[in-house]
Amino acid sequence: MTARRIRPSPASAKPGDTIDLPHLPGLALLWCLMDIDIVSVFPEYFDVLKLSLLGKAQDNGLVRISAHNLRDWTHDVHHSVDDTPVGGGAGMVMKPEVWGECLDELLGMEPGPGTDGSGGGTAVSSASKATDAGDLVLIFPNPSAALFTQRDAAELSHAKRLVFGCGRYEGYDARIPEYYRAQGVDVREYSIGDYVLNGGEVAVSVMLEAITRLLPGFMGNPESIVEESYTGGNALLEYHQYTKPALWRTLAVPDILLGGDHGKVDRFRRDEALERTSAIRPDLIEALDCQQLDKADRKTLMALGWEVSQAHPRLVGQPRRPSATD
Ligand code: ADE
Repeated sequence: MTARRIRPSPASAKPGDTIDLPHLPGLALLWCLMDIDIVSVFPEYFDVLKLSLLGKAQDNGLVRISAHNLRDWTHDVHHSVDDTPVGGGAGMVMKPEVWGECLDELLGMEPGPGTDGSGGGTAVSSASKATDAGDLVLIFPNPSAALFTQRDAAELSHAKRLVFGCGRYEGYDARIPEYYRAQGVDVREYSIGDYVLNGGEVAVSVMLEAITRLLPGFMGNPESIVEESYTGGNALLEYHQYTKPALWRTLAVPDILLGGDHGKVDRFRRDEALERTSAIRPDLIEALDCQQLDKADRKTLMALGWEVSQAHPRLVGQPRRPSATD
């Protein structure tokens, strides 16, 4: 990659540029910038993204976020974006024509066939334009899709451009993702959990926060994302955290954390992570690779009722809590 070297305004940086750090003269960083577009009938929802670390990342030029109003691509007096479901049923479905015009423009693609009402026309020849630009991903939140996980967040944090389309009402016409997929665009549909929201806006905020905090330079202390729950190949829930005072309302911080023995602290935390994960998310224990467990991990898991001699742990009998002597 030939990087354009710019200084010192990150605001004009493009993905892959290097940037001189004003506080560290002479040291250039590969500028990791992500362009994010969000389409919604309530773009104001995304004003909250100007707050906190994500707001700071935008101020620093690390990410650029634009929220667009889908109704800007309508042509009728009512700015309608939805219609009744074909085949019957309750509620309204978002119309493909409006989404098509909006996404063609945002993705830099030629208008698709029938956009001018002719019903014909040349198929998009610039689909490759959308993908050649490098790592463009088009994402639709959808309660009926696969679950969005930390692994997806990590993968998407490498994209240069993300375009999110927020559905409302009973959802969007299924041909919208199908069409862009057929044009060669990397289209994903994700649910953020087994519950139904009123629209995709909150789901997009959730995904965006999970993705952008993984960008290099986003977190003040990058180590804080290394030990988190769901991070890494052998993901566990995190151990409990405490701060001062050591005694609060009769509740004491575990003694071992106060002793200063880092080896013992690490083991205590690891055991707590295994125990919590076994109790709350046994599916994560079942996914562990036994080869990557050390002797102490195996002992703890066996005490919790897991058999660890095969490729992955297997629960034998009832899950147990370890006794004080285990
Ligand atoms: N839209 C409505 N509910 C949703 C969910 N659970 N996940 C993603 N998008 C949604």
